Amino acid sequence: MDVSQAIEGRRSIRAFDADRDVASTLITSILGTASRAPSGSNIQPWHVYVVTGAAKNRITEACTARYLSGDEGKSEYHYYPQAWRQPYIGRRRQTGFGLYGLLGIDKADTAAVQDYRVTNYQFFGAPVGLFFTIDRDMELGSWLDYGMFIQSVMLSARGAGLETCAQAAFCPYYDSVMPLLGAPDEQMLVCGMSLGYPLSEAIINGYRTERIAVEAFTTFVTD
Ligand SMILES: Cc1cc2nc3c(=O)[nH]c(=O)nc-3n(C[C@H](O)[C@H](O)[C@H](O)COP(=O)(O)O)c2cc1C
Repeated sequence: MDVSQAIEGRRSIRAFDADRDVASTLITSILGTASRAPSGSNIQPWHVYVVTGAAKNRITEACTARYLSGDEGKSEYHYYPQAWRQPYIGRRRQTGFGLYGLLGIDKADTAAVQDYRVTNYQFFGAPVGLFFTIDRDMELGSWLDYGMFIQSVMLSARGAGLETCAQAAFCPYYDSVMPLLGAPDEQMLVCGMSLGYPLSEAIINGYRTERIAVEAFTTFVTD
C-alpha cells in the first residue's frame, strides 16, 4: 500500500469482525512502526494499553453501565471548544446526520441513539481495544506529538490489513477505564481505539466523510 492509498483510504470503521483475532505479535509490530512517529526532541510521550478478552469486557461493562444509567461522566480534558461556533458546529452536525442517516436512526428515537452509542463501548465488535495515555505533566506540544503517533497507528494498522476507529467516547469514563488498565494516577487518558478486521458488508463502514477543499484552509503567502 502506498502512502496516499493508506491515508486516503482510511476511514473510521465502526463494525469489526469479532471472530477474527489479531495476533499480539501483529499488534506489537503495528505499534513498533507507529513509534517511528516524530516527537519534539524525540521524547515519545505515549503510553499504550492493549486490551483483549476479559480485560476488554470489563471496560465494556463499566462504561456501558455508566452510560445507560445516565451518567455522562466528565473527561479530564476538553476535546472540543467550550463554545461551539461555525464552521465547526456545522461540520460536526453534518458528520452526525450522515452517520445516523446511513443507519436510519432518527435522532429523536432515544432508544435507537442509545443502542448505537453503546456500540462505542463494545469497541464496535473489535477484538482489540487500545488506550492511549499521557503523563499529566506533559504540555501541549506533547499532545501534538501524540496526534502524529495515533495517526501512525491507524496507518500502520492499514498496512497490515486492519482498520481502526479512534474513540474519545471513553474519555468521560476515564475514572473507570484507567484503574481497569492499571494505569497510574500520573497518567491521563488521551483516547481509546478499536482495532480489528473490518466487516466489509456493514453499512456503517461505507460511511465516507467529506473534507473541505485545500483552498479553504490554505493560504499561499508570497510577496
Ligand atoms: C481522537 C479522535 C476521537 C474520536 N472519537 C470517536 C468516538 O468516540 N466515536 C466514534 O464513533 N468516532 C470517533 N472518532 C472518529 C471521527 O468521528 C472521524 O475521524 C471523523 O468523523 C472523520 O471520519 P473518518 O475518520 O472516517 O475520516 C474520533 C476521531 C478522533 C481523531
